[in-house]
Amino acid sequence: MAITYELIHTCKQTGARYGKVHTPHGSFETPMFMPVGTLATVKTMSPDELERMGAPIILSNTYHLWLRPGEDIVKEAGGLHNFMNWDGSILTDSGGFQVFSLSDLRKIEEEGVHFRNHISGEKLFLSPEKAMRIQNDLGADIMMAFDECPPYPAEHKYMKDSVERTSRWAERCLEAHQRPHDQGLFGIIQGGEYEDLRRQSAKDLTSMDFPGYAVGGLSVGEPKDVMNRVLEFTTPLLPSEKPRYLMGVGSPDSLVDGSIRGIDMFDCVLPTRIARNGTCMTSNGRLVVRNAKFARDFRPLDENCDCYTCRNYSRAYIRHLVKANETFGIRLTTYHNLYFLLKLMGQVRDAIREDRLGDFREEFFEQYGFNKP
Ligand code: GUN
Ligand code: ZN
Repeated sequence: MAITYELIHTCKQTGARYGKVHTPHGSFETPMFMPVGTLATVKTMSPDELERMGAPIILSNTYHLWLRPGEDIVKEAGGLHNFMNWDGSILTDSGGFQVFSLSDLRKIEEEGVHFRNHISGEKLFLSPEKAMRIQNDLGADIMMAFDECPPYPAEHKYMKDSVERTSRWAERCLEAHQRPHDQGLFGIIQGGEYEDLRRQSAKDLTSMDFPGYAVGGLSVGEPKDVMNRVLEFTTPLLPSEKPRYLMGVGSPDSLVDGSIRGIDMFDCVLPTRIARNGTCMTSNGRLVVRNAKFARDFRPLDENCDCYTCRNYSRAYIRHLVKANETFGIRLTTYHNLYFLLKLMGQVRDAIREDRLGDFREEFFEQYGFNKP
């Protein structure tokens, strides 16, 4: 099997899991955050920098790489790892989500989805078989089933039809997958906020025996307490001996709260996206470095951070670079934000192993300035 999971310790205070995921490109500890490299690059970061900040796995996107440069070119380069010179693990999302989030004029049929290229307007079609073929060509360690991610809120009737279609598509994905020996295919649980549909989706997908499971359809605009409640009734439906991945989640509070509810993997564009307009995650909350009050502030972005950016550069300098549109500025904020989340996950893992994740949450939320629930 391409992907295996080792459950090492369950936090006695919260039920969170510390474990390891083994892939053909190395193993990583969980819970883990995966930086997003949509177009085969984590924007502004070199693979060398990603390795130094401690990222063992990154995410990339089927939809974007299919449109450009084309999966045939990536395959010809020897796969995504070779193409982008990244030796660590890679996960590719299936395109399911991007079709729904980036394109309008889509038409969902049993066979697949018709839509338009979000750049050129060209007519396109994606199906479970096509998403598998593209991901087999890209060659990531983990690939995702082709699913439908409905908007929030969606009516029960719509969601039920959608969940049933996503289950049929998942069967077709397993059938079409050509490289189960060196690429692990994860199933995606849908069902929105509805417990009965999450249950149905989990039952359908777990009977198909994927090497890992994702919880999809969250972080689509629902309130935080809805996400937490959905996770509370969904993760217990998943096999404990396989990894669980919460898709599209990356705010510091949700990483902690997702871990507490038994999630092992997360990804999100949030840290890299906000870094590019000068917003930084710090242990005292968000810091908008463009702000005039930092013009003469010669302290690091986060006084509790030991990343390359914080060891060497001041808020005043980074503010100057960002305001002057100097690329180095957003490289420094990107490095810091990713380091911050990777370090947070390390703290979460330590707290799990020491059975004190509940205490850690309390302290972290207090300092970050989140309202306690
Ligand atoms: N990314 C964030 N949410 C989702 C989802 O529900 N499905 C897929 N394929 N990708 C996602
Ligand atoms: Zn830092």
